[in-house]
Amino acid sequence: MADNNPFPGENNTGHIWDDNIRELSNPPPGWWMISFWASIAFFIGYGVLYPFLPIGEEPTKGILGWTQIGEFNKGLDEVNAVRAPYEAKIKDLTAKQILEDDSLTTYTIASSKVLFGDFCAPCHGGGGQGGPEYPVLVDDNWLYGGTVETIEQTITNGRKATMTAHANILKPEEMEALVKSIMDGKPTEEPLYAAKGCIACHGADGKGLQVLGAANLTDKIWRFPAQDQAESVRHTIMHGVNFAGDPKTREAIMPAFGERLSKDDVKKLAVYVYKLGAGQ
Ligand code: HEC
Ligand code: HEC
Repeated sequence: MADNNPFPGENNTGHIWDDNIRELSNPPPGWWMISFWASIAFFIGYGVLYPFLPIGEEPTKGILGWTQIGEFNKGLDEVNAVRAPYEAKIKDLTAKQILEDDSLTTYTIASSKVLFGDFCAPCHGGGGQGGPEYPVLVDDNWLYGGTVETIEQTITNGRKATMTAHANILKPEEMEALVKSIMDGKPTEEPLYAAKGCIACHGADGKGLQVLGAANLTDKIWRFPAQDQAESVRHTIMHGVNFAGDPKTREAIMPAFGERLSKDDVKKLAVYVYKLGAGQ
């Protein structure tokens, strides 16, 4: 074919269709060849330097000795180096002493966010906003008290308060009188409050006794908030809280974290929660 190539002097392969459509055999452009060889060089260079061919269980290691986990650990070491001096101080201080040191408090709050998210948010919400079953931690209103020591005790040992069910103790009209007085925020003005023993747990002033975790009934800040708040108050009075023997009783158990978390983590969370609630 090449001998009777009708296009002599042209670098074609001799494949010709329809008399003049030819297959040429020109070399690729220079830039293309450079990229081609460069990519091969990169391929070989990379293979020599880094983990590469998956032969057997492990890939070839590469002469730099780089590994993903090594890179990760290096990053971790850097973070730990920054944290170490703070962590060492926290170990030796009480929660209250941490709060006296601004930079340590800032560090503690930042480093407790994840702990709170993992262990507390499922019940108390991501920001400590609480819910129908779980108390709000962002306000200044505390069932058990808002000193950092009390909060630390709550986290370490958990809490389980009890309120008696009154469904069988109160007549319907007595129940309604008590519900109304609480909805008005003036339970102590209702004689039944003292007569029926509410006073023993909720106190002479109706503001609750923190040693018992009994809610303040005068502030209209609800431990068990609901659309129909009067109904929720009625339900609590009828069925009580954690009251064995009444299947409709409210369950309110704060689990103990003393075994699950280290002392330092509990301390940090106490500082975190204290700051959420802006203190007592
Ligand atoms: C399983 C759900 C649950 C988890 C998880 C949980 N809590 Fe609680 N927490 C409760 C309940 C319920 C109460 C209310 C107890 C009561 O009403 O007597 C409570 C009460 C509290 C109180 C007392 C509030 C007050 O007004 O005195 C604090 C403080 C608290 N929780 C902090 C935490 C922290 C910090 C964590 C994470 C380490 C956490 N909780 C995890 C359910 C939970
Ligand atoms: C044995 C102690 C005890 C007695 C007696 C008691 N309470 Fe309580 N009450 C509590 C505790 C503790 C709580 C908070 C429960 C919790 O959140 O874990 C509570 C919660 C409540 C709540 C819910 C408040 C809210 O914010 O949602 C109401 C309402 C209430 N009590 C009314 C009464 C009335 C009315 C009486 C008297 C008929 C009474 N209680 C008697 C211990 C008691």
